[in-house]
Amino acid sequence: MKHLLGLRELSKEDIIKILNLAKDMKTILKSETKKTPHLQGYSVVTLFYENSTRTRTSFELAAKFMSANTTSISVQTSSVQKGESLLDTIKTLEALKTDVLIVRHSVSGVPHFIAKNCSFSVINAGDGMNEHPTQALLDMFTIRERLRTIEKLKIAIIGDILHSRVARSNIWGLSKFDNQITVFGPQTLIPPYIENFAYVASSLEEAVSGKDVIIDLRIQLERQKRGFITSKQEYYKFYGLNEDIMRYISGSTLIMHPGPVNRGVEISSEVMQLPNSTIEEQVTNGIAVRMAVLYLCTRKEGIYR
Ligand code: CP
Repeated sequence: MKHLLGLRELSKEDIIKILNLAKDMKTILKSETKKTPHLQGYSVVTLFYENSTRTRTSFELAAKFMSANTTSISVQTSSVQKGESLLDTIKTLEALKTDVLIVRHSVSGVPHFIAKNCSFSVINAGDGMNEHPTQALLDMFTIRERLRTIEKLKIAIIGDILHSRVARSNIWGLSKFDNQITVFGPQTLIPPYIENFAYVASSLEEAVSGKDVIIDLRIQLERQKRGFITSKQEYYKFYGLNEDIMRYISGSTLIMHPGPVNRGVEISSEVMQLPNSTIEEQVTNGIAVRMAVLYLCTRKEGIYR
């Protein structure tokens, strides 16, 4: 494949191919050197117009573990601040012999625009409210590793569905595997179109009961200019995963969160530390999944070509 822009356009087979390769990559991560020569001679650039800890760092580590030449552009100190346009930035990166660009932007569709206007591979590291494909892939990888399957599961996605690119990518990806998806959150944060793709629960108890997996989402305060929630305390009371709601959740249900977490808003510290919480595992698995994506984006044969 040349680019990874979203999970909507990937087939079930494409996703399985990435997850299988990520499993192999995870064994490399467990080795002493954590090093493969797969990206030797390639230049991998990260360009993040929005903040990140997990995605950016794990992409950089993944590329380094695969022997790529890596560099990270800080938008705050780049020529973007002097008014350089996105198109001129792309042309500059082309002139700098970039092979793979990993980009995050607050505007939906920016990675797609770049992919249409450049010669290098583009990986979407999160575009506005649209998609965060590698997050959903690492979530699916974690589910498959823990439950031995990603098919025919009962999965609840809780919280700020409206603004969440993680929710959208997971819904596109998980629906390809015949999973039953339930969503729940404040009514103001449930987009009307979601009813075509998921069941909308009427209470948190209903949403979490009998589920194999619960994906809890971060409240995206940076995208909530219109005041979608009244207060963080109230949100925690009605939508937070805390000890009270755990009465409805089986000990084998996976508790997932993409991070960063607003502790005591979406989820309690106690719930985060339960043995069935996979929050830290997801971060580790992110390296293996991103190694797999980088590998496939730099091969001539693949799922797009
Ligand atoms: N989950 C996720 O995208 O985290 P970062 O914003 O830290 O990359």
